[in-house]
Amino acid sequence: MTLQPLNLFLAAVLALPLAACGPADEGPDEGIAPGDPSFVRDPALDVENVSAHGEARSHNMGQNCMNCHQAHGPGRGRFTAAGTAHSPTGEPLAGGTVELRTAPNGQGDLVLAIQIDDNGNFFTTESLPFPDESLFPFVRAPGAGGTSFMPFPTLSGACNVCHVGAQRVAVE
Ligand code: HEC
Ligand code: HEC
Repeated sequence: MTLQPLNLFLAAVLALPLAACGPADEGPDEGIAPGDPSFVRDPALDVENVSAHGEARSHNMGQNCMNCHQAHGPGRGRFTAAGTAHSPTGEPLAGGTVELRTAPNGQGDLVLAIQIDDNGNFFTTESLPFPDESLFPFVRAPGAGGTSFMPFPTLSGACNVCHVGAQRVAVE
């Protein structure tokens, strides 16, 4: 991808109002959108929720999981990192692994490895240093497949905020 479309893409994302948010009727506070500070979250939702190979409990592929899986949202578990992996043709990629590291391209210390589930989603509620420290995502396809890495670090684990549409996380 060239820099030009990326800039256009980021400009478009920044220009968007909150219209991209999910439906507001999934939480206990009907009518109050997830993410609104007045959204009251059921404390029973604050449980561990970590993706695993072979599971398909997740949903909403490609959406920003943290729109709902956060302190003022209705999602089960407050995710510290979450997103959706795809094959180069755009199909959800089941069974690979997302690593968060202290250096790019699989180098540095492995801070956390997250298994990609059968929907292509990966998510975790384990504690991460975001946003105080940034980390380098590194994605491994299942089996003897390829790898893909983010060449610069991210301060946010909300991968799908940036990785939407043609910018999706892809690995061969
Ligand atoms: C529009 C809001 C919303 C978005 C966006 C969202 N979720 Fe959820 N999620 C929910 C709600 C609501 C539940 C059910 C909470 C409950 O248990 O009452 C849930 C539950 C889950 C569960 C638990 C399922 C189970 O029963 O074990 C997983 C896993 C999950 N979401 C993953 C994800 C992932 C991964 C993403 C992003 C790709 C995502 N969610 C995006 C609202 C959302
Ligand atoms: C603030 C925006 C942003 C966030 C958040 C973000 N990324 Fe990225 N990521 C980018 C940009 C921009 C690129 C460079 C795209 C390019 O040049 O192809 C990139 C590239 C990548 C690449 C290599 C190219 C590709 O698209 O496959 C991977 C893999 C990747 N990111 C994974 C992740 C993962 C996993 C997360 C969440 C832990 C994440 N990213 C969070 C913006 C972001």
